[in-house]
Amino acid sequence: MAPIEPSKSGFIGVFDSGIGGLSVLQALRAEMPQERFVYWADSDFAPYGERSEQFVIERSHFITQQLIAQGPMKALVVACNTATAVAIESLRATFPSLPFIGVEPALKPALAQTKTLRVGVMGTQGTLRSLRFEKLLQSVLNEASSQSCEFVLQSCKGLAIAIEQQTEKSLNDTQAIDALCAHYVASMGSFGLAPGQIDTLVLGCTHYVFVQDILRQLVGPQVNIISTGEAVAKQTKRLIVPLPPNAENADMSNNIQLWTNGSLQALQAAASRWLDLSSEHCLLVQTESSKVLN
Ligand code: DGL
Repeated sequence: MAPIEPSKSGFIGVFDSGIGGLSVLQALRAEMPQERFVYWADSDFAPYGERSEQFVIERSHFITQQLIAQGPMKALVVACNTATAVAIESLRATFPSLPFIGVEPALKPALAQTKTLRVGVMGTQGTLRSLRFEKLLQSVLNEASSQSCEFVLQSCKGLAIAIEQQTEKSLNDTQAIDALCAHYVASMGSFGLAPGQIDTLVLGCTHYVFVQDILRQLVGPQVNIISTGEAVAKQTKRLIVPLPPNAENADMSNNIQLWTNGSLQALQAAASRWLDLSSEHCLLVQTESSKVLN
């Protein structure tokens, strides 16, 4: 594993079960171009959403320890709804001096925006079945104004891994993803602005941001599609001591390292496609199979 040079200011760690969290990294980078980022794609262990809670907790702790071992880390962004849902509380308890920023399905913003009072929520099984999500949903439903709002929850088995696997294919080869998206959108019901239709769709998994165009085709142009990358980036900025803008370092892309324990080619393709980063930013790291529970 390539060591990170220790720095006074430290880097911001980011992780996900795979490449989905790159959608959050895009927003982090846009918000804080001067910061250093190390991104861990745990692709060898994806999809988290179809694993046990214990498995995801174990992986999240392992990745956190690996990142801490690289030198001073300012904050760790859990760029994964599933890992946030099941692991962030134990991460905070175990590493109390490290600020953790999690990602949650944007139910509150959706509630503020819906006019038809029907909101679709796409997420992994792990997220939608978690206690944390249940509490979030309950707290939103308890808000006086939201009594009549209905959240249509759709667990999207297979979609995150299909997005992982698509990355190495050509941009047009989206057959498997098209079929899954069509199936899950149809399962949620009718989309549109008319009474009784779903007018707001929450992307409750960071992978789904990369198929937003396909979802947009399916739900139509008027439906609000909400993701959380920007809000997470703003929250991260509030929590850290920012580096001053560095005029000498004009190419800020030098500040980003992307690691994977899965397919290096897939990560390189994703980095180039979504972050405009060359393959030198991508590294293959060793998988700790001894840490796997199931
Ligand atoms: N991207 C992750 C999320 O936001 C996990 C997807 C998965 O590995 O199942 O939930």
